[in-house]
Amino acid sequence: MKKKRKMRLKDKVAIITAAGSGSGRAGAVLFAREGARVVVGDIDPKGGQETAPLNRMAKPEEIANLALFLVSDESSFITGAAVPIDGGKIAKV
Ligand SMILES: NC(=O)c1ccc[n+]([C@@H]2O[C@H](COP(=O)([O-])OP(=O)(O)OC[C@H]3O[C@@H](n4cnc5c(N)ncnc54)[C@H](O)[C@@H]3O)[C@@H](O)[C@H]2O)c1
Repeated sequence: MKKKRKMRLKDKVAIITAAGSGSGRAGAVLFAREGARVVVGDIDPKGGQETAPLNRMAKPEEIANLALFLVSDESSFITGAAVPIDGGKIAKV
């Protein structure tokens, strides 16, 4: 049986600068695994966006809300886009 992980940073917020790669990214991923909500900063927006891990399953409404937005008039100027909605799972350490 899988042992339940103790979330030592549950209900904490961590702000990590230079988290787009290297040691900053490693810290952001580790803190998220411990339950913190992690705010990621980096001078390179692509690296920062690739980090941002939430480390949990999506709630159904979090997926549905994107679909609702994309089919609504609110997204009328979007003609084709792939929107990652994976809680930051593309982040690799
Ligand atoms: N890697 C090591 O073994 C090691 C050891 C000792 C010290 N250090 C030091 O630790 C720091 C980080 O090392 P690393 O290997 O993780 O580097 P890295 O290059 O992998 O990561 C640095 C990150 O900082 C971001 N960045 C750069 N300038 C920034 C700015 N002005 N504002 C916000 N973000 C900015 C970059 O975009 C990048 O994502 C460096 O100063 C390095 O010299 C690294």
